[in-house]
Amino acid sequence: MIEILKEIPFFSQLSDEDLEAIAETVEMQYFGPEQVVFEEGDYGEEMYIIKRGKVNVIRDYAIIAELSDNAFFGEMALVSEEPRNATVKAMSDVEVLVLKKDDFKRLLETKPSIASVVSYEVVKRANQLS
Ligand code: CMP
Repeated sequence: MIEILKEIPFFSQLSDEDLEAIAETVEMQYFGPEQVVFEEGDYGEEMYIIKRGKVNVIRDYAIIAELSDNAFFGEMALVSEEPRNATVKAMSDVEVLVLKKDDFKRLLETKPSIASVVSYEVVKRANQLS
């Protein structure tokens, strides 16, 4: 797992020790084409980083974004404590790293480099929703 984490830019600022701690908490999940990762309105308990593959972000039946390798999604519901604001559907075979809500929040609290990347995207994405 640590080798996988090292290849992901999201974690690039972290030390080996940090990565070892994260490796204990993350898991890999796999989705096939057309498989739904989660639905708009769901309660959010995890965030996802795409190791490989493509997903569509769908809101009110329209595709609002396409995300692929190294992008992350599912962070907004965890930060805002609101339901998922969009559905995410795999468009290919997809491998994702999954972080549980509490572990993700701890990362935001303890790693400013990650907090700034995430908050930049959350603001940008929130602006696109309105
Ligand atoms: P969340 O609200 O938890 O679940 C839906 C996810 O879609 C959301 O988090 C973001 O990760 C993602 N998302 C929402 N809007 C956009 C956007 N404009 N561009 C990229 N991703 C988005």
